[in-house]
Amino acid sequence: MTTTVRHPWTTTLIDASAQRPGDDPIFMLNAEAQKRAQAGESIVNATLGVLTEDDGTLAVMPSVLDAIARVPVKKAAAYAPIHGDAVFLRAVISDLFDGGPLASIAVAAATPGGTGALHHAIVNFLEPGQALLTTDYFWAPYHTIATHTRRAVETFEMFDARGEFDLAAFDEGLARVIARQGRALVFFNFPCHNPTGYSLGDAEWSAVAEIVRRHAQRAPVAFLVDDAYARFGSNESQSWLAHVEPMLDPALVLVAWTASKSFAQYGARVGALVAVHPDAKERERIHNALGFSCRGTWSNCNHLGLLAITDLLSEPTLKARADGERAKLVRLLGERVGVFNREAARAGLRHPRYEGGFFVSVFTPDAEATARAMRELGVFVVPMKGAVRVALCSTPARDVPRLVQALERAAAR
Ligand SMILES: Cc1ncc(COP(=O)(O)O)c(C=O)c1O
Repeated sequence: MTTTVRHPWTTTLIDASAQRPGDDPIFMLNAEAQKRAQAGESIVNATLGVLTEDDGTLAVMPSVLDAIARVPVKKAAAYAPIHGDAVFLRAVISDLFDGGPLASIAVAAATPGGTGALHHAIVNFLEPGQALLTTDYFWAPYHTIATHTRRAVETFEMFDARGEFDLAAFDEGLARVIARQGRALVFFNFPCHNPTGYSLGDAEWSAVAEIVRRHAQRAPVAFLVDDAYARFGSNESQSWLAHVEPMLDPALVLVAWTASKSFAQYGARVGALVAVHPDAKERERIHNALGFSCRGTWSNCNHLGLLAITDLLSEPTLKARADGERAKLVRLLGERVGVFNREAARAGLRHPRYEGGFFVSVFTPDAEATARAMRELGVFVVPMKGAVRVALCSTPARDVPRLVQALERAAAR
């Protein structure tokens, strides 16, 4: 039905909501790739951030499906506690800290995936109008969540001229936001940074911890590790855990934990925000604040998902099965990473150090033009400022040489 507007306003939406963009550009690219593939064209679609089998279907873990099926129906149908079940929170904390000393000084709240955890960090550790600090390449929903909650995102240059992580830029960025707003919330998406694929090494983590500690002596600093892809990194990429303790008190350390990637279970929306602080009173305040935010947004999480993931984390036989199945997925992705690194080196592509993870970025001055030229060759990647993002998570190893050739040809135009 079409109507003629007969009143002085054009929309009932408030100004900010009336200006929202429509479809997500990544989903639009994916739709175009699928349309061309359905029309019979040979397409490589490296746009979407989910892990697929080589036949293009979603990779799932049978142990996770079994765990979901096993949850008693009446337990699943009941409301979850506002913070999430205590057994779930304990299981997440011990998954992160392996029962070490940090586990005894952590509190948590269940959230719908990592996204919910990021939301709670933004609304509880920044005042309206303030900005979180992150790398200049970052997962776009950081900006969506921040603007939606009337906060902002400020960035520092992630790589220096040698392509190394720019510690000095981080140091300056942190000083700048503290000088302006008297506090800081930092988002670090390592290991396996989306979109660049970069993982900080041990020496970089040590330097980051020292910078955080120094600034946190002057103003409140909450340092958040967005751990979404943690299980897909190398062993060294896990070394951040050793650097939490040196940052603590003065700084608060937060972890956005999610089952979406580590259990190949994006749909169940299971995650948690974990906060680590040595002071029991501060932990209690944070626990209360997180519970309040849960009540004020989604109330309680998906109970079926929480209970299934609890069993997968804590029931030994199920956990062993899940670990084995995940190891297979890590190998599947590792094969693609290996082919990419070999072919990209042969082609002389410029990209950050990449040892594992769902994505890698390839630097190119005009990313829109590069991505467009690649689409003409039937290869879909996501353009960003100064680089294109390649989702190896959804690209079979056999297609990686074609993808790299398309990158090489498009970048040379
Ligand atoms: C960098 C990053 N952080 C967090 C998330 C959160 O994902 P979810 O809310 O599905 O757990 C994602 C998902 O793509 C991500 O790429």
